[in-house]
Amino acid sequence: MNTASMPIWIGKKVCKNRITMAPTVKFTAGRDGMVTDFFVRHYSLRAQNGVGLICVEATAVSPEGRLAPSQIGLWSDAQIEGHRRLVETCHPFDVLIMPQLHYGGLGTHPECGPLTSPTAVTWNVFGKKVQAEELTVAEIHRIQQCFIDAAVRAREAGYDGVQLHGCHRYLINDFSSRVNQRTDMYGGSTENRARFGCEIIEGIRRACGDDFIISMRTSGFDPTVEESIRTAECYVEAGCDYLQVSNGIEDIAQLPFDESLPYNRVASLGVAFHEHFKGRVPVSAVNGIHTPDLARFLLEHELTDTVDLARGLLADPALADAILYGAPYSKCVGCKSCGWGPLHAHRCPALDRRQNEEWIW
Ligand SMILES: Cc1cc2nc3c(=O)[nH]c(=O)nc-3n(C[C@H](O)[C@H](O)[C@H](O)COP(=O)(O)O)c2cc1C
Repeated sequence: MNTASMPIWIGKKVCKNRITMAPTVKFTAGRDGMVTDFFVRHYSLRAQNGVGLICVEATAVSPEGRLAPSQIGLWSDAQIEGHRRLVETCHPFDVLIMPQLHYGGLGTHPECGPLTSPTAVTWNVFGKKVQAEELTVAEIHRIQQCFIDAAVRAREAGYDGVQLHGCHRYLINDFSSRVNQRTDMYGGSTENRARFGCEIIEGIRRACGDDFIISMRTSGFDPTVEESIRTAECYVEAGCDYLQVSNGIEDIAQLPFDESLPYNRVASLGVAFHEHFKGRVPVSAVNGIHTPDLARFLLEHELTDTVDLARGLLADPALADAILYGAPYSKCVGCKSCGWGPLHAHRCPALDRRQNEEWIW
């Protein structure tokens, strides 16, 4: 049996296979943060084409914490209906689906709100040095409640769970030691720095129940792999069901790495976490997994529990079926035209290769 086809427990739910769709923002929402037909179509195409779990892109829990004015949100009850439509269109394909709950912190867009951080560091924002506002304990608690309220709305929309955005220098990640110099209960020790994320996890668990998946997309190298694993241990202890491991604030090029490996530095973080958490919580590796061969290699050698695919699935939703059944697909060429930022033009050359507008992303 192809290992990629094997079901896996994630929290109290079964995912039908080992292929997950990583969150990828589209920057196509209006300022109201509503889910539009575009999002329903985009995600249902990936659901139809084999993925076991969809992580819907970074979804703002509060408008002043957005990473772009065109980000979708779950900060108000009015946004639930659009998400419900998205979930109801994907669920018939037997896919688990959850939004990635997000608050900007040091990645906040200047048009959306002030740059905020556990400590008042100076940060580079679109080429300008900006002094971040240090969060008070009352503000920390307010933002934690925004995450919990958004998770309750996600549950109401029918999602199977939520993923918390805890990497890529956004607020949960900003509580790691590179930025966080606090001396109160949210700084100092690993447990204190992890407290912000842990209290969100505990609050969501209380509000949404045991069968609601709580996943953390965590940073694997802030400032070391060992410290990031200790932080993730706190999340698991608090009730996190699933770890997806990406990079964070520290420069990933500094990570010692054996260049002869078939996967890259960021994916190696997922492999290290999988080794540590094996048999306790499932772990997903991400980054540079753009071919069926590499996805199968990681799964067959039990280097990760699931493979998380981002650009490969933007280039072609059929990548999942290619991993599962050897279906033809159009490979991501890594040109970055899909971009990481709101200023990029979203034109994937794979669209032209496919010559089939059905595959619009
Ligand atoms: C267009 C685009 C949007 C992204 N949006 C998000 C996001 O919303 N949340 C997140 O955690 N990562 C985001 N990422 C990072 C991806 O999830 C993934 O970690 C990264 O692209 C590396 O994986 P890949 O090589 O499979 O593309 C985005 C990446 C791209 C290219």
